[in-house]
Amino acid sequence: MTNLYEEAYDRSINDPDGFWGEAAEDCHWYKKWDKVLDDTNKPFYRWFTGGMVNTCYNAVDLHVDQGRGHQTALIYDSPVTDTIKKYTYAQLKDETAAFAGVLAGQGVAKGDRVLIYMPMIPEAVIAMLGCARIGAVHSVVFGGFAANELATRINDAKPKVIVSASCGIEVKRIIAYKPLLDGAIDMANAKPEKCIILQRPMEKASMIDGRDLDWQEAVAAAEPHDCVPVAATDPLYILYTSGTTGEPKGVVRDNGSHMVALKWTMGAVYNVAPGDVYWAASDVGWVVGHSYIVYGPLFKGCTTIVFEGKPVGTPDAGAFWRVISQHKVKAMFTAPTAFRAIKREDPRGDLIRDYDLSAFKALFLAGERLDPDTLRWAENKLGVPVIDHWWQTETGWAIAANCLGLHKFPVKEGSPTKPAPGWNLQVLDPETTAPVKAGDIGALVVKLPLPPGALPTLWQNDKRYLESYLDEYPGFYKTADAGFIDEEGYAFVMTRTDDIINVAGHRLSTGAMEEILADHPEVAECAVLGVEDQLKGQVPVGFLVLNAGVDRDPDEIIAETIKMVRDRIGPVAAFKTATVVKRLPKTRSGKILRGTIQKIADNKEHKVPATIDDPAILEEMSDALMKIGYGKARSKS
Ligand code: COA
Ligand code: AMP
Repeated sequence: MTNLYEEAYDRSINDPDGFWGEAAEDCHWYKKWDKVLDDTNKPFYRWFTGGMVNTCYNAVDLHVDQGRGHQTALIYDSPVTDTIKKYTYAQLKDETAAFAGVLAGQGVAKGDRVLIYMPMIPEAVIAMLGCARIGAVHSVVFGGFAANELATRINDAKPKVIVSASCGIEVKRIIAYKPLLDGAIDMANAKPEKCIILQRPMEKASMIDGRDLDWQEAVAAAEPHDCVPVAATDPLYILYTSGTTGEPKGVVRDNGSHMVALKWTMGAVYNVAPGDVYWAASDVGWVVGHSYIVYGPLFKGCTTIVFEGKPVGTPDAGAFWRVISQHKVKAMFTAPTAFRAIKREDPRGDLIRDYDLSAFKALFLAGERLDPDTLRWAENKLGVPVIDHWWQTETGWAIAANCLGLHKFPVKEGSPTKPAPGWNLQVLDPETTAPVKAGDIGALVVKLPLPPGALPTLWQNDKRYLESYLDEYPGFYKTADAGFIDEEGYAFVMTRTDDIINVAGHRLSTGAMEEILADHPEVAECAVLGVEDQLKGQVPVGFLVLNAGVDRDPDEIIAETIKMVRDRIGPVAAFKTATVVKRLPKTRSGKILRGTIQKIADNKEHKVPATIDDPAILEEMSDALMKIGYGKARSKS
C-alpha cells in the first residue's frame, strides 16, 4: 500500500501539470494560467504562464477578504528592545498598502527594483510586501554584510529606491546601518533615486537632503495603494547568494510558482494550518527568512514571528523556549548551529523546564548538516519530531524532507529523508555523468524541470545560470552538493563540491575571501578553507604565503587581512583565524591540495597524495595548524 507521500511524489513527477495545477487552485488568481508547465523554451522551464496574480494579495488581503482580518498575522518579538507587538491581517494590509503608496509616490512601478537593507523588524516585512503589492522586485540584503557587498548588489540590481533603518541591534551592540548604506552608495556605480530610512529610537541616522526620506513621515503622507496584477512569471524578488567568485549570484524568484509551491509546503512539509503559529528563527536577509518568515506562513494564513534576538544572550539560552511558550508556536524552523549554541550553554536543557511547550509539535532544521549529537539532544529534550531538511537559496524550499503533513518516515541520522514531491533527485558519477548505484557517493542533481518555486534563472544573466547549474550535467540541475541515496530512498548530503562553506548556517565563498587576501600587498599566495567548528559547523581559516623579503611581524599582517575581510564582506564572514606558512601543498600541476589540508585541520586520516610535489610540506602545514589550535593540537584538547 502506498502512503500519501508516495502518491504525491509519484504524481508530482509523472503528472506535474495535474499535481501543481491542483495545488494552484488553493491560491487567488486574477486570471488562471494557460499552461501549468511551459516547456517551450527548454531548459528554461516556466510555470503557470499566462496566469495573473499578486503575491501580496495572496499573503495578506485574501485572508482579510475571507473574514480573518482580526487574526494575528505577525508577532514582532524583540528581546533586544524589550518589545512585543502584534499585527492582525487587517493591520498588516493597511501598513502594507500605505508603504506601497510611499513607493508608488516615488515613481516605483512594476518591474522596478527596490533594495531592502534592514534588521529583523516588522517594517522589513512590510517593505517586502509593499514591493510585491505594486509588482516591484525586492532585493533584501542581510544586515551582517559590509558596504562593499551591499555596493555589489546595488550595482547588479540597480534599485530605484533603497529602504533601510537607522540601525540593527546585535545582542547589546547597536550597529549603525546608515553609514554602511551611505558608504555603499558612494562606492556603487548605480545610484538609487531615493532612500527611505526608518529612524529607530536608539540611533538617529543623519539624512541626505533631497535623497533620503523619513519612513514615518512618508507613510503618514501616503495614499494607500491597491494590489497590482502581475504575470505569474514576473519576478517577485532577487536574492543574492555566494557564488564561487566574489560576484554573488542573483537568484530570481517569480510570483506565481513561488506562491503555489510555498503555500503547498506549509501543509505538506510543515503540517500547519491557517491560524497556527509558525516561527522561523532566521533573518529576512536569507532565503529561509524570505520563504518561511514572510511568504509561506502568510500565504497559508498562519501567524508568523519576527524575532529580533539570538538563541543565546537575549537574555539567555531559554529565549527559544520563552517564545515558543508565550506565542504558542506549533512548528519552528532554525539552523542546527542555533541549537548547538543553546546546548553549549544549557547542556542539560534545564531552562526548557521553565516553560510550557505543550503547543509545540515539531522542530525543523536546515542550512547545514545536522550532526547526530544535536539531533539527539533536540529530540530528547523537546520530545517532538526533529526534522532535518535540505535546501538551498536557489531552490527556495526543501529538496529533501520528512514531509510531516504527508507521511512521517523513521528518522535516519545524517539524512534529510526523501526527496520532496516535485524534486526528481538523482546521484550521478561526476566523471562519466552516469547514474551511480544506491549507496554510492556522487553529485546530487535534480532532473529538469525543477518544481515551482525554484529559481527560473539568475538576474539578467541566463548565461551564468546555465554555466553554474545546467551545463555540467545536461538535463539536470547541479546542486553542487555531493552525497548518496540509500537502498530505501533516503538522501544523504555530505559536502559541497565547490568552494562554498556554511558558517553558522550562513553561506559563504572561500574563493571570495581568497580574492580579498590576495589583495594584501605583502601576500604572495593564499588559501582559505572551511574547517570544522563545534558551534558554527565550519569556520574559515586562512593560509598566507608572504612575498619574499617581507620581514614585518606576521601577526600584524594576519590582523590586517582579518580586517580586510571584515571590511569588505562583513562580520558575517566570521573570518578570525589565519596563519603564515612558507608554502602551500600543491600537486605537481600546481593545484592547491585543499582536501588534504582540510583533513589535517579537522584531524582526520589523510593519505599523502601521489601527485604532491613535496610531501614535507604537509608536516609544515600540520605544525602551522597546531599553532592556531587545529589538527593534532585540537585532538588533545
Ligand atoms: N547585522 C550586523 N551584524 C551581524 C548580523 C546582522 N544582522 N548578524 C550577525 N552579525 C555579526 C555578529 O554580531 C558577529 O559579529 P562579531 O564577529 O563582531 O561577533 C558576526 O556577524 C558573526 O555572526 P554569527 O556567525 O551569526 O555568530 P554569532 O556568534 O553572533 O552567533 C549563533 C552565533 C549560532 C547564535 C547565530 O549564528 C545564530 O543564531 N544562528 C542560527 C540562525 C540563523 O541565523 N541561521 C541562518 C539561516 S537559517
Ligand atoms: P543556502 O543557500 O545558504 O541555504 O545554503 C545551501 C547549502 O547549505 C546546501 O547546498 C548545502 O550544502 C547546505 N545545506 C542546507 N541544508 C542542509 C541539510 N539539511 N543538510 C546538509 N547540508 C545542508
